[in-house]
Amino acid sequence: MRIVFMGKAEVPDLQVSSLSWENGSLVLLDQTKLPQEEAYLVCRDHRQVAAAIRRLAVRGAPAIGVAAAFGVVLGAQEILARGGDLQTELPVVFEELRSTRPTAVNLFWALDRMARAWQAQGGTAEPATLVSALEAEALRLYREDAESNRRLGEFGATLLADGMNILTICNAGALATVAYGTALAVVRMAVAQGKKIAVTACETRPLLQGARLTTWELLQEGIPVTLITDSMAGYVMQRGLVQAVITGADRVAANGDVVNKIGTYTLAVLAREHGLPFYVAAPFSTVDLAMPEGSRIPIEERAEDEVTCWQGRRLAPAGVKVLNPAFDLTPARYVTALITDRGIVRNGEWEKLQQMHGCGEKEELRNGQP
Ligand code: MRU
Repeated sequence: MRIVFMGKAEVPDLQVSSLSWENGSLVLLDQTKLPQEEAYLVCRDHRQVAAAIRRLAVRGAPAIGVAAAFGVVLGAQEILARGGDLQTELPVVFEELRSTRPTAVNLFWALDRMARAWQAQGGTAEPATLVSALEAEALRLYREDAESNRRLGEFGATLLADGMNILTICNAGALATVAYGTALAVVRMAVAQGKKIAVTACETRPLLQGARLTTWELLQEGIPVTLITDSMAGYVMQRGLVQAVITGADRVAANGDVVNKIGTYTLAVLAREHGLPFYVAAPFSTVDLAMPEGSRIPIEERAEDEVTCWQGRRLAPAGVKVLNPAFDLTPARYVTALITDRGIVRNGEWEKLQQMHGCGEKEELRNGQP
């Protein structure tokens, strides 16, 4: 399924699709194989979806939320097909999907939406009706994510001037969502408006989402991109080679603190030192208003061999002590503005997040100023 917004001719067609729902199966572009191989995984049960999320075959906060939602549908289909009991067995499916990754709140947000769609059917609904309701909700989440990418991109593009070079980390692009991405949606929309924008991509050790995915995605669309190692970020800022930093987020706390890919905090502090704006682009599904501040957000610790090895080859001596947090916390004071699908929230206006929460569709469209 490729998403093209009809009537939005100014929005470029996408070359990349992270996931699609085809004939009752979830098809994932296996991101562990990029850029060497464009391989697709066809998930026919929720365990395959959970495994794909765990090993980062599908990754990026919004994409794992949508993938997990379809995982619930697959779980329900399987229970129904073998005549099992949805009421007792579906909670196990939810639990398995919830336990895949702890940091990105989109995962829990999407699963909560699926749980509410299930509960809304009441205890007496026919099993087939229930499964259809779950499928409809997962498709709704898919479409909403695509639409939120577009809106967020349009809001963010107003912050970019012609000729800017944008530093980013990890992959907050089409591969991390179902359509235009978050940080890269801002770039895409600015380019669609006719601005000349280039991107500098941090490689993003240890799993190289920047080197493997962001560069691949931008090259597909002809958006100029330069790859640097993570430790070159200070150099490119000092030399005036970038004019702003834009990253995605895995969770934004109510006070504006941001948790995103490891290395984001370093970029934010460096940006402050060099007087550069540090923007975070994230849909509202990434904002966790129940989390008063970022220090309470769980940070995923991943396996040591992601740091000590590359593609099965050992790089570091056996027995070395290793730390491998997948994310870090950027305190709100470093964030120039949060670019959301409901508008731009500038530093010091974090209480606006509460006001924006739950604001209706019409209000959201009022130039992002609820
Ligand atoms: O470990 P990953 O690759 O899932 O981490 C992804 C990120 O940190 C992204 O920046 C974040 O999820 C935002 S994606 C729109």
